[in-house]
Amino acid sequence: MTPEEIAAQVLLKSVRMRWSLSRAAGWFFSRNPGLSHFKPPVRVITLGVARNFILLDRALEHIGYGPPRNDLRWMLGRVMAFSLLFWRLKPSRVARGARRSGIGYRDLIKLRDVSPRDLVKGLSEFDRLSVLYSMPKWMLAQLKAAEIPNLEELLRTLNRDPNRWLRVRLNAGRGRIEAALRDAGVMAEPDEQLPDVLKIIEAPGGLPRLLDRRVVVLQDKASALVSHVLQPGGRRVGDLTGGAAIKASHMAWLGAKGVFSMDISVRRVFEEAAPNVKAMDVGSIVDLAVGDVKKPPIRGLDAVLVDPPCTDLGRLQFNPEIKMWLKPRDLRVMSGLQLGMMKAASGASRTLVYSVCTLTYSETIRNARIASEEFGLEPIEAQPIVGERPPGFPKAQRMLPHIHGTQGFFIAKFKTK
Ligand SMILES: C[S@@+](CC[C@H](N)C(=O)[O-])C[C@H]1O[C@@H](n2cnc3c(N)ncnc32)[C@H](O)[C@@H]1O
Repeated sequence: MTPEEIAAQVLLKSVRMRWSLSRAAGWFFSRNPGLSHFKPPVRVITLGVARNFILLDRALEHIGYGPPRNDLRWMLGRVMAFSLLFWRLKPSRVARGARRSGIGYRDLIKLRDVSPRDLVKGLSEFDRLSVLYSMPKWMLAQLKAAEIPNLEELLRTLNRDPNRWLRVRLNAGRGRIEAALRDAGVMAEPDEQLPDVLKIIEAPGGLPRLLDRRVVVLQDKASALVSHVLQPGGRRVGDLTGGAAIKASHMAWLGAKGVFSMDISVRRVFEEAAPNVKAMDVGSIVDLAVGDVKKPPIRGLDAVLVDPPCTDLGRLQFNPEIKMWLKPRDLRVMSGLQLGMMKAASGASRTLVYSVCTLTYSETIRNARIASEEFGLEPIEAQPIVGERPPGFPKAQRMLPHIHGTQGFFIAKFKTK
């Protein structure tokens, strides 16, 4: 089996199961351990195909094939188109890929002389962006409605590898933090805006897995900003969709008196949050619970975070496969759930922070407006302001991959009564 054929199987599994590429690759290689040496090329190919899938469909249609289908042959066709448009594959491998994908060799090889720009000639501006950056039209319409500055640059950035960030425990002392970085072989530089955030410059062994997590953890700057906006120092705070307790543990590092971290998933609480709280050495401050934010079992907190499930489009640099399976219906369901969660959580505290790692209009500006106009939540400045202020809800802030070098995030803050 070639890396192209493996990549096609991994991509198809990812789309059909709505799994991340890394989970789908894990599934494949655990069944085929003898092919593990192909992991690196398979990763490059699957990321590239997911980032460019609409452009690749157009390339295949350009040579007379289509319409696109969700089956193994079409997926292999996409992989072959990617290999020809973006690099040079040996003719013998092209011939094999052509045979197995049901595309004529002579047709396929034509793509060697085609450039992405050729494939979008004559399209309207909107369609050009959608095809060139492989952003489904409904998603692009959402990003346009959100009035993101320099949209084309955002789309370009979303198709590139992300920056990596670290969050450090400042009160552990510089010496301990520097030693932890040195031991993990990581070079990082301090961020100019958030004092406890560092940008990774070099991590020669790949991503640092050997960090001493009592003082340094991997966390995107935009995600770290959320706990700063909550201003947990000396207060009793909560994350009512607490997941793996990443933000809850940060609240503890920032000096919260107590943190209540709750999630509806038993597995997330016991298998992710509990070990994280232990590893980050915050067990005496963070209380974990399983529960539903729609029926908060707590009240009287000084501030709560609602960080609900979202379309994750701010994370496309990490998970481009989401573009291949997400549907407009998912957005409708998700934004409705987010509103319900905000409304219910507002009873638990006088201050509520709402954050989502996405940039769609519906989940960001629109939801924040509904919360203020229909639920009576009063918007307040989401300080410290590190991102840009979204037109349409300027008290909130947005972190944008092409401007801030982070994941895409929207953070709004409200007084609840
Ligand atoms: C974006 S993640 C939260 C990440 C978390 N704040 C952190 O920093 O690690 C969203 C979480 O919401 C949880 N969730 C979904 N529905 C919920 C509900 N009704 N009540 C509580 N948690 C819920 C999911 O299980 C998921 O872990």
